[in-house]
Amino acid sequence: MSNNPIGVFDSGVGGLCVLRKCMEAMPCEHFVYLADSANMPYGERSATDIKRAACACAETLFDMNCKAVVVACNTATETAIEDIRSLYPDKTVVGLEPAVKPCYGELDCGYAVALVTPATARSEKFGSLIRLCGGKIIPSPQPKLAAVIESLIGEPSRLRPVVGDILEPYKDARAVVLGCSHYTYLTSLIDEFYGGKIKIYDGAGGAAQRLKSLLEKADLCADGGTVGSVRFYSTYKI
Ligand code: DGL
Repeated sequence: MSNNPIGVFDSGVGGLCVLRKCMEAMPCEHFVYLADSANMPYGERSATDIKRAACACAETLFDMNCKAVVVACNTATETAIEDIRSLYPDKTVVGLEPAVKPCYGELDCGYAVALVTPATARSEKFGSLIRLCGGKIIPSPQPKLAAVIESLIGEPSRLRPVVGDILEPYKDARAVVLGCSHYTYLTSLIDEFYGGKIKIYDGAGGAAQRLKSLLEKADLCADGGTVGSVRFYSTYKI
């Protein structure tokens, strides 16, 4: 069982940033990455549709004998992780949370903006997290942004004005929370917008560390001598 793969899924390329952190933290592990492109964008869908899509991804990965599944998507974590956990109560299931708590903990003055998908903004889990921060973290739902990132990936000159339009109303923010794994691809453009003066938070590193500690506790880490690997899969709709 310990040399079985770890499944990682997202609606598309966003979760690759989480996969990367997991590979860095656990270089001997084998990973299976599933991009649920047929159902992208999750962030524009109803909670029912997101739950259905996310549970189907988890089922596919557990059917491939994965020893653990990482929900490398904030939208699916906020909306569907409890459903996945109740379907697989004996399995290790790790989610990706918007890094609101670490950001709030370090914010000494002013406010931070949390960029999220519309579905995350609507979710109860995210709502209660935001309420705990007493107005210091402002949620900013971004319709269509994940899809724009998928289509303009590797084209910073076309993404730069998109980032500028989004952040203009928050130009005096003291920090940015990337509440969607796709938005990690905007990190350097956001940094550039603020002239390198603010901190940018994402939850990928935290998810990787959580997975590592759960695998260690369950004695499920791959043998130290193995060389890690990744296999990529995608759903598609023509
Ligand atoms: N990457 C996903 C997230 O972290 C959502 C992108 C989408 O809307 O499909 O929220």
